[in-house]
Amino acid sequence: MSQPLDRAFALEAVRVTEAAAMAAWGQVGRGDEQAADAAATEAMRAAFDILPISGKVVIGEGEPDDAPMLYIGETVGSGGVAVDIALDPLEGTTLAAKKLPNALAVMAMAEPGTLLHVPDAYMDKIAIGPGYPEGVVDLDADPAENVLALARAKGVRPGDITACVLDRPRHADIIEKMRKAGASVQLISDGDVAGIIATTEPATSIDIYIGRGGAPEGVLAAAALRCVGGQIQTRLVFRNDGERARTARLGITDLNRKYSLMDLASGDVVFSATGVTDGSMLRGVHRRGAYLSTESVVMRSATGTVRRIRALHKCRDEG
Ligand code: FBP
Repeated sequence: MSQPLDRAFALEAVRVTEAAAMAAWGQVGRGDEQAADAAATEAMRAAFDILPISGKVVIGEGEPDDAPMLYIGETVGSGGVAVDIALDPLEGTTLAAKKLPNALAVMAMAEPGTLLHVPDAYMDKIAIGPGYPEGVVDLDADPAENVLALARAKGVRPGDITACVLDRPRHADIIEKMRKAGASVQLISDGDVAGIIATTEPATSIDIYIGRGGAPEGVLAAAALRCVGGQIQTRLVFRNDGERARTARLGITDLNRKYSLMDLASGDVVFSATGVTDGSMLRGVHRRGAYLSTESVVMRSATGTVRRIRALHKCRDEG
């Protein structure tokens, strides 16, 4: 068995998401998703240069032909321990462009070969926080049954269960069934990494996340759950044959497979997220005189340690 990732990596990882978040901050509320994403991506790419790793991007900004940097297969870092990397320099580009809550810069580093390689397709997801019996909810169960099972396991009434769901027409049926079962549904406009992590954080009151979102975001959220506990089940969903072909090229033969937490992130992992806009998990970037303030969370699966890191970064233009 390989060694756990060095604990120093946890503190190194945060520099990468901090850099991306601060770069995205310059574009927050300016209505330009692409500019915000590009700023975060360039800053994250530059921050990797000083990280003592030999990193391979396995979940990134896209295929080499589509993305100028941080594409799948790109190697990053100044050299050192081999790690696989899943990243999203700006998770919630629209949230950032509209200055809405929960835009994040996110990155996970893991032992090589332990993060599922997924295409930029959709993924059906169901996730709950820690402390429940394995399999209490199921991706293939009726949404109402999941609400009832979760309420029983939590020892509360179905009316006390809150579900988080992306506000999309495709989720109308799920939302209706969960509400009929008694649950209250918190709709989010974007950002299902934050939505899934919210199930692990009692202060959010969110008990369960359900719905279809990006596949890369599913792997990133699973990396976080490996550190803090919780359950997730997912299944890839394809819009066309191109996505199916890309998936086959990534080595996935069973396109209908149901993935659990350990299928998505099986090894030792370090997860880091920095808030871009204020949200349920993290404060966003703010200007404080000559400084930018950031708030990040860094987690290690080897120990389950969760660190919150608040930092003040001297603005370069202030000298
Ligand atoms: P981006 O940061 O790439 O814009 O993704 C935001 C997001 O809301 C993800 O959190 C989610 O998984 C996905 O988009 C949902 O996709 P869609 O907007 O197509 O429903």
